[in-house]
Amino acid sequence: MDDPYARSAEYMDILIADAWGLFAPGLVEALSGLSGETDVTVDLGAGTGRGVETICAALPDNSPVLAVEPSPTLRAVLLARAHGDAHLRARVTVSPTDALNTPLPERIRALVAMNMIGHLSPDDRRELWRRIVPRLIPGGRVILNLSPPTRPVGITRSRMASSSVGDLTYEGWASAEVAGEHRVRWHMTYLVQRAEGRPVSEVTVDYDWWVMDEAELSKELTEHGLTTRQVGHPDAGLYVAIRTGGQLRHQD
Ligand SMILES: C[S@@+](CC[C@H](N)C(=O)[O-])C[C@H]1O[C@@H](n2cnc3c(N)ncnc32)[C@H](O)[C@@H]1O
Repeated sequence: MDDPYARSAEYMDILIADAWGLFAPGLVEALSGLSGETDVTVDLGAGTGRGVETICAALPDNSPVLAVEPSPTLRAVLLARAHGDAHLRARVTVSPTDALNTPLPERIRALVAMNMIGHLSPDDRRELWRRIVPRLIPGGRVILNLSPPTRPVGITRSRMASSSVGDLTYEGWASAEVAGEHRVRWHMTYLVQRAEGRPVSEVTVDYDWWVMDEAELSKELTEHGLTTRQVGHPDAGLYVAIRTGGQLRHQD
């Protein structure tokens, strides 16, 4: 797999930390009232594990989590986070696979896909829902966020995140251009600086991102029998899609 995070992975955890201050309460709300305590919650594209931490804190101690992460560099941080905390270590399984190739459990309590759905094309998403939805337990859910832009438009370069560790400051800058009918191309720059802006290093990364808005998401998931609603702080762009009633439909 072509890993868009190969060169930026070292910055991801510290630069996404503030955003998780917004996402975590919404994710906790989206997970509330789930049945099937011992069924698996899947965190797809788990990154460095901030979502895994939030899921484990929100669900009972006997609820297992499958953290799927294709990027070896991000997975190293994820595995270290899971290993370093006794509560996570006992219940988090880290899978070195991707959305469409990961072996799935028979029964899925929730599928969490935070800050990652734009990596999947519309065809890949359809295939994902086709695999996931029949395995969702009644009341099971898909939880994901749509990050702006939700339409294919250009975005002017701006600083997305900044954090300091010791003597160094880490900044993530981003701009986007239209790359297709449902796609933008992000141009990311990661700057490391000493005091007074003296540069230490600069890494640039480009990757494509599939965009959709709330109406498109809702329509797509309705076709798979899920009912979608917004959850959490409106700025988080977070949605929960619930499978109401019915039996498990997975037959493999
Ligand atoms: C912006 S990061 C978000 C990480 C994490 N979910 C978070 O919010 O902190 C996007 C993640 O999606 C993962 N990813 C990219 N393509 C993927 C795919 N086809 N299947 C599963 N994960 C994928 C990346 O490796 C990365 O971990």
